[in-house]
Amino acid sequence: MTYQHYIDGEWVDGHGTETFESENPATGESLGEFHRGTEADVREATAAADDAFETWRDLSHIDRAEYLWDIYHELKERHEELGEVVTKECGKEISEGKADVTEAWHMVEWAAGDARHPKGDVVPSEIPSKDAYMRRKPRGVVGCITPWNFPVAIPFWHMAVSLVEGNTVVWKPAEQTPWCGQIVAEMFEESGIPDGVFNMVQGYGDAGAAIVDDDRVDTVLFTGSAEVGHEIASEVASDPGKLAACEMGGKNGIVITEEADLDIAVHSAVMSSFKTTGQRCVSSERLIVHEDIYDEFKQRFVEVAEKVAVGDPLDDSTFMGPAIEAEHVEKIQQYNDLAREEATNVLVDRTELDDEEIPEGHEDGHWVGPFVYEVDYDPSLRCLKEEVFGPHVALVEYSGDIEHAVDIHNDTPYGLAGAVISEDYRQINYYRDHAEVGLAYGNLPCIGAEVQLPFGGVKKSGNGYPSAREVIEAVTERTAWTLNNSKEIEMAQGLSADIKTEDD
Ligand code: UN1
Repeated sequence: MTYQHYIDGEWVDGHGTETFESENPATGESLGEFHRGTEADVREATAAADDAFETWRDLSHIDRAEYLWDIYHELKERHEELGEVVTKECGKEISEGKADVTEAWHMVEWAAGDARHPKGDVVPSEIPSKDAYMRRKPRGVVGCITPWNFPVAIPFWHMAVSLVEGNTVVWKPAEQTPWCGQIVAEMFEESGIPDGVFNMVQGYGDAGAAIVDDDRVDTVLFTGSAEVGHEIASEVASDPGKLAACEMGGKNGIVITEEADLDIAVHSAVMSSFKTTGQRCVSSERLIVHEDIYDEFKQRFVEVAEKVAVGDPLDDSTFMGPAIEAEHVEKIQQYNDLAREEATNVLVDRTELDDEEIPEGHEDGHWVGPFVYEVDYDPSLRCLKEEVFGPHVALVEYSGDIEHAVDIHNDTPYGLAGAVISEDYRQINYYRDHAEVGLAYGNLPCIGAEVQLPFGGVKKSGNGYPSAREVIEAVTERTAWTLNNSKEIEMAQGLSADIKTEDD
């Protein structure tokens, strides 16, 4: 069978004639065939979402959240099964596949629980007889475009809060992970959410572009590559009244000072660089290490990178699964080549794994292992500026104080995540206050943010409306509402309320 789109409460083939396959990146086997959505399918979905909006927004937050609570329970009950689906479809090792599902129910829990929390603010007025408030309204139709690396969690970052706040949604899952999309859509169907409130169109970038272009879409939420995110942000910027919240990647760094505990440093660096095969937008590709501990850190980090377990992601002794697809392996290879040209010294090169490292039956997987190199800091080096999104990491030695390390750390066009490893609170606090990132960590890896924190970056990594908790800002409008309790009209700022006529 060919899986369908979910539009206005119906499963439909859509208007297109093309289909596409989901492929297991560890084996190359097909996981299913899906209809490829077209602009016409997106138009139908946005029309359905637009029609459903008035009735949906009239429900209370608490009633809207009830549908999400059903999904919360289902995500928990199906944890093991869905974790495996995530692992099979996007190649993350099994603990990560399951953590993706856990992160999804955490987000649903946060959004649905928030339905019972106070909304808006009661604000003082200069005039005692006035009551002033900040109230929030849903924006309308929210278009959600999500990536393959968190194929269950990130859709819920976008959709859970949007729906509880009273918006309707049109969602396009990543073309690499349509099976996860299918399962999430089935959950919405089973929750009994009214027709048109949730819609899913499977497909590629052209379907995503149709969501961005559609006049009925009031907010676009995008998580993915900087290239696409910037295109969306500039397209939406020319459309007054429309808003885009884009969360993109990074060229994340970890500063390891002369005061670092080296066990924590090595552990944090390995987790940040190689977990998810380096394919998190928060993964670290730069380790900025003080000269006093550089040699020891290098030796210990290289030792682990040489033997970190790459293999079958369903096997729980694996640390790193495959890369998502063949084109992505090529991109990583090209960046490894670039680093070979620009770097002083390549320390670990597992770009091509040995035959015996590739598990049986996985010969067609998209395998790539760690690549570690050292490089003298130079602001003109591309390998220190451009995001690879793979297990590709530079060691950069620095001398002097934390200020110098943070200058190097900040010298990228991106600013998503970063960490400092030090036992000195002054160094830690300097990093905290000066690192140009949205997510900063002390004595920890720079991955693994929890959903109740804001998630988003600065500079090229984001545009100020982060995902997870703070997505609320992107999917609601604020009204400053003031009510007069007096029979007289009295103005603030000392403004006269007297009406003067020529008779006065
Ligand atoms: C991503 O990197 O694409 O902070 C999302 C983390 C996860 C989300 C990552 N909670 O590592």
